[in-house]
Amino acid sequence: MSGHFESNGAGELLSRASAFARGTYPLVGRLSMPGSDPTRDDATGMVRSFALRMTLPHGEDWRLAMNSTPIFAVRTPEALFEQLQAGARDPRTGHADPAKMQAFLDGHPEARAFDRYVDGHPPSSGYDNATYYGISAFRVTDAHGVRRFVRWKVVPEHPYRSVDTQDQRDPDFLSYDLTTQLAIGPLRWHLTLDVAQTGDPLDDSTREWSRSPDRLRIDVGTVVIERAQTQIDGPCRDVVFDPTILPDGIAPSSDPLLAARSAAYSVSFRRRVQEEAAAARASAH
Ligand code: HEM
Repeated sequence: MSGHFESNGAGELLSRASAFARGTYPLVGRLSMPGSDPTRDDATGMVRSFALRMTLPHGEDWRLAMNSTPIFAVRTPEALFEQLQAGARDPRTGHADPAKMQAFLDGHPEARAFDRYVDGHPPSSGYDNATYYGISAFRVTDAHGVRRFVRWKVVPEHPYRSVDTQDQRDPDFLSYDLTTQLAIGPLRWHLTLDVAQTGDPLDDSTREWSRSPDRLRIDVGTVVIERAQTQIDGPCRDVVFDPTILPDGIAPSSDPLLAARSAAYSVSFRRRVQEEAAAARASAH
């Protein structure tokens, strides 16, 4: 998909990043369902994802990779590895061993917060009406050198509606509906920054920040998605949505997930491109 970001200038209060200077900046992005199996039925997906690359002046860019949950299941890459191992299917039975997942949860009670969130928040009916969260905290620096920590999200203009069986009429209903909506007109989300208050965790993506009514929250502009393009040869295919690629004025926090994601996304990207090239060679023969 592609479109643009309409920055309203309000973000300059928090960060000197060029993205927050009033103006319009090109976007390339991908809406997707997490997981490693592209043939999976969309009806099974409890989470939706939104990745964006914003092209900024002077060769800078900002990559955002967000999920439709405000928290992640685990705090560290090591815990994610344990969780993936616990949920892996036994090649002999074709099923994961529930005892292994139970043992993982017993050792990582923090992961239950994510399950509770997902149980209490049914997925949206489409990609267009979900809120997507950056989850990790990031450090922003303003023009005077003042540093603060923020978490961001993009909030849809289309009101949230939970998915129902009518929406789930086709295994690929999410991208089908997205393409249909974009043929009618652009989709919009508001990029909103929440500023950390004393006591908010800055390195723990399993915990939400308090719902304090006096938290500073700034709508910094509008993400406008205008065109759908195919994954196979569209502009998002060759982008690594590494969340540590940031413009000056925004930096990663000490959240251990961020560095791990940076490393994992490049390996995944390389393997994905190699597999696609091999498939293209095979179909040419
Ligand atoms: C240590 C934790 C994590 C690991 C190891 C991990 C790993 C991965 C990998 C390997 C990919 C595929 C990348 C590619 O092929 O280009 C991916 C995609 C993605 N991840 Fe994560 N992830 C982690 C945490 C998160 C979190 C916390 C979020 C949300 C804030 C997130 C959001 C996304 C999104 C949106 C994509 C899709 C990017 C695209 O469309 O290319 N991930 N992740």
